[in-house]
Amino acid sequence: MAELTPAPKKKATLAALAACFAIVLGVIGALGYWIHLEHQPQDFTRIEAPAPPAPPPLPAPAKTPAKTAAEEPAPSDRAVDDWRYRRIGDLYLGPDGCRDCHRVHYETASQTAHFLDSAPAGRDTVLGHFEAGRNVVKTLDPTLTFEMEARDGRFWQSEVRTKDGQRKVVQTERFELVVGSGVKGQTYIYLKDGALFQLPISHYTPLDTWTFSPSFKEGMDYFNRPILPRCLECHVTHVTPATPGPPAAHDAALAGGGEMILGITCEKCHGPGAAHAMYHRDHPKETQGKLMVSLKGLSRVRQVETCGFCHSGATLKKPLRPAFTWRPGRPLSDFFVDIRPKTPGPPEVHGNQVALVQASACYQKSETLTCTTCHDVHKNERGQPALHSKRCLSCHQAEHCGKAKALGPAAAENCIDCHMPMQESKGAHIWHGGKENYIPFRSHLIKVYPEESDAFIKKLKNK
Ligand code: HEC
Ligand code: HEC
Ligand code: HEC
Ligand code: HEC
Ligand code: HEC
Ligand code: HEC
Ligand code: HEC
Repeated sequence: MAELTPAPKKKATLAALAACFAIVLGVIGALGYWIHLEHQPQDFTRIEAPAPPAPPPLPAPAKTPAKTAAEEPAPSDRAVDDWRYRRIGDLYLGPDGCRDCHRVHYETASQTAHFLDSAPAGRDTVLGHFEAGRNVVKTLDPTLTFEMEARDGRFWQSEVRTKDGQRKVVQTERFELVVGSGVKGQTYIYLKDGALFQLPISHYTPLDTWTFSPSFKEGMDYFNRPILPRCLECHVTHVTPATPGPPAAHDAALAGGGEMILGITCEKCHGPGAAHAMYHRDHPKETQGKLMVSLKGLSRVRQVETCGFCHSGATLKKPLRPAFTWRPGRPLSDFFVDIRPKTPGPPEVHGNQVALVQASACYQKSETLTCTTCHDVHKNERGQPALHSKRCLSCHQAEHCGKAKALGPAAAENCIDCHMPMQESKGAHIWHGGKENYIPFRSHLIKVYPEESDAFIKKLKNK
């Protein structure tokens, strides 16, 4: 599984892409810009494409100082790249548009934290409690509470002041969207005058309780935190703004009339799929995937960057392009300048698995390790150390680890808790019960952790 299929014949790929591009341009031209997610694939009618225009020439390579081999995109990336630059990039179907032809991927992927990462607020999606006794957040200020209420199938959050026995509701807003499947926690968004705002109270899973949203505290302006497109960019698949226009329009407030594909679904990682789906409907005998980025065919650096768009931390990055213009396969350096110090730093709420993996000997001393060596993102594989440990054994043998050999099978079933232990983040904290609570993270710096190893051995002995 760790083996990457070698990049397919590059010449053929380029030619195929050019041909596909021509077909797509024709079809798109005929159908116009209006096709988007509400159109199910079966709605597509076959349209005779006019003579395809010649594909524009490749842009001259930028005159930058020579790059190292690792940074230089492989030619196959560049072809993908170029194609993605065009407006075709805006034709999204939503995951249901992939279901007919990729049923297995769809059935399993729809159970993942990625798919469930954002959703409309509803009984099944809001994890917080509304029953009396569990629906109030007290604060250090005895006059201030926050109250959660479920009424008419909708959910509400209020700031309440109580003085001399008098209750005064300062502000009430409705839960509109949920962000977070709830592995660590969930936060909630409300809609006001077409703009999105974060509710001050979130659900924190490790304590199964309502608490302040990250970086909210007593004494601040509680209902005034806008949710900007940059935030949603990592938590929804795509947004079609209410007013069509160039991508820059996304940087204005996302008007309520816009359409969102919620969840991190197929097209977030694979790129927009309408052209691909149309092509395969028209060519049912075709067995090669067309008009779709082949993630396996990308260079290792680009593969990791497909995850790294979201999993390389959320802070200290200077954006270069508007939100929602990122496409898998394109170098991240086109989208932001990373202005963090070179060391990976402590894990924060928004992880930085990429820098930590890249700092590990497993990455540096092998040629093939990527995120998907250990993760099949089409399945929910959370909480299965034995399964993940098998993936270590695709490169290692348990005998090479002194401890594993001494511990026998118990160790072979869990390399993880000793070599990738859970650690408390110093960067990610939740203000609850009058103190900061640090969120635990799975370390992606794979190495020997003597203390955690001893703790694991103790735990085994106590069983
Ligand atoms: C009409 C059928 C059809 C629809 C709809 C469809 N696909 Fe495909 N797709 C195919 C076929 C056929 C292949 C080639 C065989 C394979 O790899 O499964 C393919 C291949 C792929 C590949 C592999 C590409 C490669 O070269 O590695 C990906 C990724 C993919 N599809 C994603 C999607 C996504 C995402 C959607 C929804 C937006 C989608 N497909 C909708 C038929 C379809
Ligand atoms: C650069 C991409 C990025 C941005 C920007 C970003 N997030 Fe995240 N967020 C992530 C990733 C990745 C995770 C999962 C981290 C992990 O488990 O290591 C996450 C986790 C979360 C979680 C916990 C989810 C769970 O189920 O445990 C919440 C809630 C959340 N983010 C809310 C937000 C909000 C609100 C914003 C904007 C104000 C935001 N995020 C901005 C990438 C991002
Ligand atoms: C979180 C990112 C992500 C999401 C979401 C995702 N994929 Fe993938 N997909 C990948 C990656 C990465 C690969 C390459 C696998 C590898 O490197 O082994 C891949 C490979 C594939 C392939 C090629 C065959 C294979 O299994 O290797 C198909 C087909 C595919 N995905 C379809 C889908 C469909 C359909 C969905 C939605 C139901 C989906 N994917 C959702 C990241 C994703
Ligand atoms: C669009 C942003 C985005 C991209 C791209 C992305 N992820 Fe994630 N990933 C997230 C967020 C957000 C979460 C937290 C989901 C939640 O629990 O709500 C997450 C969670 C995860 C988890 C934890 C799953 C669980 O069950 O707890 C793994 C593992 C993961 N991502 C791996 C990957 C890999 C591997 C890739 C690349 C193939 C990838 N992700 C691409 C945003 C992203
Ligand atoms: C793609 C192959 C590959 C995979 C998968 C892999 N490793 Fe490694 N790992 C390596 C290589 C290569 C080295 C360097 C070995 C050397 O220097 O002799 C290494 C080194 C290590 C080291 C020594 C680290 C150090 O700082 O010296 C540990 C511990 C380790 N791996 C544990 C793991 C565990 C646990 C897993 C699974 C979670 C894993 N590896 C998965 C290839 C891999
Ligand atoms: C050597 C194997 C290995 C590699 C490589 C790897 N991971 Fe993981 N990852 C794991 C294991 C094991 C877990 C824990 C799974 C669990 O607890 O169920 C994990 C958990 C995660 C989580 C959940 C984090 C948390 O704190 O709960 C995210 C997000 C994630 N990985 C993303 C990534 C990304 C992105 C990459 C690539 C940069 C990557 N992983 C590479 C083994 C790996
Ligand atoms: C009980 C904790 C524990 C478990 C379980 C464990 N290891 Fe280790 N591992 C260690 C410690 C501690 C070392 C440092 C050397 C020693 O004491 O033998 C080590 C050493 C290693 C090394 C060599 C590092 C070097 O510097 O050369 C590798 C590779 C490794 N382990 C891989 C694995 C794999 C793969 C598994 C799962 C099959 C595993 N380990 C299970 C604790 C553990």
